[in-house]
Amino acid sequence: MVCTDRTFVMIKPDGVQRGLIGDIVSRFERRGLKIVAMKMLVVSDSLAKKHYEEHAAKPFFPSLVSFIKSGPVVAMVVEGRNAVPIVRSMVGATSPSNSSPGTIRGDLALETGRNVIHASDSPESAKREISLYFDNSEIATYKRIDEQWLY
Ligand code: TYD
Ligand code: MG
Repeated sequence: MVCTDRTFVMIKPDGVQRGLIGDIVSRFERRGLKIVAMKMLVVSDSLAKKHYEEHAAKPFFPSLVSFIKSGPVVAMVVEGRNAVPIVRSMVGATSPSNSSPGTIRGDLALETGRNVIHASDSPESAKREISLYFDNSEIATYKRIDEQWLY
């Protein structure tokens, strides 16, 4: 069964600096989701503003943009059936004080402004965000050996 639902995930600078890349990637892999693109980069000012343009008028926008640019991030494209809602549920609520234990933020974060990870909130956002960070040629097509047991 071919599953092409894709979402965009980014481990934020705090997650990288705190050594959480492996833990976070491992959660997606063990769930059965497929990493089809991944890279480390430092987000530029213009990319940060484009990524978070929906929040441009919010009071937290300047601090959000400067935080996202403050160190390397790990950007990923994650694929699997219902990848968008499943990854959002694994990420947990925006404010870690509301995110359940067992979620990435609920296990690993304490503050909204240091909440470790970004994930797309809809298939439309996923499409937009994937195209901001990745060329089509950077996205891999391959089969996981356990796919027949996942679907
Ligand atoms: P948002 O898109 O609402 O959350 P999510 O990351 O869960 O999709 O907000 C984007 C980021 O902006 C959020 O991860 C952290 C930051 N932020 C603040 O710093 N303060 C706030 O009050 C909110 C709502 C978000
Ligand atoms: Mg959001």
